[in-house]
Amino acid sequence: MTQVLALSDIGFIGLGVMGKNLVLNLADNGFNIAVFDLCDEKVQGVIKQDKTENTTGTPRIYGCSSYTELLSQLKAPHLIVLSVPAGDPVDQVCENLIGAGIQPDDIVIDTGNSLWVDTVVREKKYKSNFILFSSAISGGEVGARYGPSLMPSGSPYAWTRIKPIWEAIAAKVDTKTGKPLDRKKPGEIITTGEPCAAYIGPAGAGHYVKMIHNGIEYADMQIICEAYHILNVGLELSANEIATIFEQWNNGLLDSYLMEITVEVLRHKSVDTGTSLVHLILDKAGQKGTGLWTAVSSLEVGCPTPTITQAVYARSISSFKTLRTQASTLLKGPEPVTLTDQEKQVIIEQLHDAIYCAKVSAYAQGFQLMKLAGKEHGWTLNFASIAKIWRAGCIIRATFLQSIALAYERNNDLDNLLLDNFFAEQLSERQLNWRKAVCSATMFGIPNGALSSALFYYDSMRSEILPANLLQGQRDFFGSHTFERIDKADGKQYHVQWSSVERTTIVIE
Ligand code: 6PG
Repeated sequence: MTQVLALSDIGFIGLGVMGKNLVLNLADNGFNIAVFDLCDEKVQGVIKQDKTENTTGTPRIYGCSSYTELLSQLKAPHLIVLSVPAGDPVDQVCENLIGAGIQPDDIVIDTGNSLWVDTVVREKKYKSNFILFSSAISGGEVGARYGPSLMPSGSPYAWTRIKPIWEAIAAKVDTKTGKPLDRKKPGEIITTGEPCAAYIGPAGAGHYVKMIHNGIEYADMQIICEAYHILNVGLELSANEIATIFEQWNNGLLDSYLMEITVEVLRHKSVDTGTSLVHLILDKAGQKGTGLWTAVSSLEVGCPTPTITQAVYARSISSFKTLRTQASTLLKGPEPVTLTDQEKQVIIEQLHDAIYCAKVSAYAQGFQLMKLAGKEHGWTLNFASIAKIWRAGCIIRATFLQSIALAYERNNDLDNLLLDNFFAEQLSERQLNWRKAVCSATMFGIPNGALSSALFYYDSMRSEILPANLLQGQRDFFGSHTFERIDKADGKQYHVQWSSVERTTIVIE
């Protein structure tokens, strides 16, 4: 194996797609790395790739064949980055590092999509062996290589050691405009701008925030997919025509990475058939679990995220392909309608506003969940800072995250993004078009759970009165669950014998 002269700055375990690209990113930024993977081919692969990309003339990556060798090649105290699948593999690696002699002042950074509660448990479990720090990461393969968004959390001491490295490899945004600064070639680095890496809080907080990022990602993707479905099936537009519309939208209010990649997916032609590949892809969506975790957390915290949860449902229902095919021949929908070009144009414009409003609603749900969960777990989250590190590098990066950052800069205690004057105005102006788009989709018989659940959230939040009064009556009727009255003192509980001849109100104090 190629030997570097000096001891390495960083140890790296796990050379899958994310791991390999993070290592090359670290190397570009001037760090020497000792790497280890159970599969030696991957170790050799990253060394080989670095040889072709490295223009410095000095080897930057040292391949190791065991945990012990890895530790022996590092400067002390050791700094080790893990990029291994969430769950058991993280514990297996931690145990192996203990076996290899890791020291209590060594730092291990978990960059996987770990469940945040596992991180909290692990930090305590390994406390006497080493410092476990977590840093969730977003951006996929390209992000890892040229600048991801990083959500570090855990020991503040560990953060002081990690910060310069994380700020070097993270995506950067222009300080004035908040727009991403592009870095696209091996060897290229960006030393200006604001790095998309900010300390989130104690152990678990970073992974929680990444989980919310992914929940929002699910909602955002589903909103775009429903718009595509309406345009394709309802308005009978081709994949290419839809790509052109999305491309225009991506130059305005809806500018985002997810919109940008959607245009590319829609334009892609199958090599063998020459037709749009999107129409040949089986309509069954996969999921690895982070959207589900967000939905579960929202139910546990009692903070609704209907659009994120609907997006998880949409993926699950898509997996019932056989059942859906069967039901499609049995269950009636509306008769097809023929639209004029002018009518189509009107719906396209309404849909644009519906996507924007639904996105704001979904982000509002995610941010409120972070706020309430943060309170529950004693994390002081800085929401402007979270919005800022999502402006570049991550999957949900979008121009309007700059507006979200500004909203939380105006007021970090904002209870809900919908209450910020800027967003309140934006949605008030567009809500009618949003409703019309949801109506059109419903009248076409096109499922629109994300667009409509986002509207449900908006309408619920702006309704001073909801029918929960009747619901409380029903609960009291069958279960004596009691209710409060608006015309009496707060907190006083009442119960009524609803069906007896003599109706008496009993006050329970
Ligand atoms: C990211 C992504 C990344 C991964 C998701 C995909 O931020 O880089 O979110 O974490 O692509 O886990 O999740 P699903 O497989 O559940 O869609």
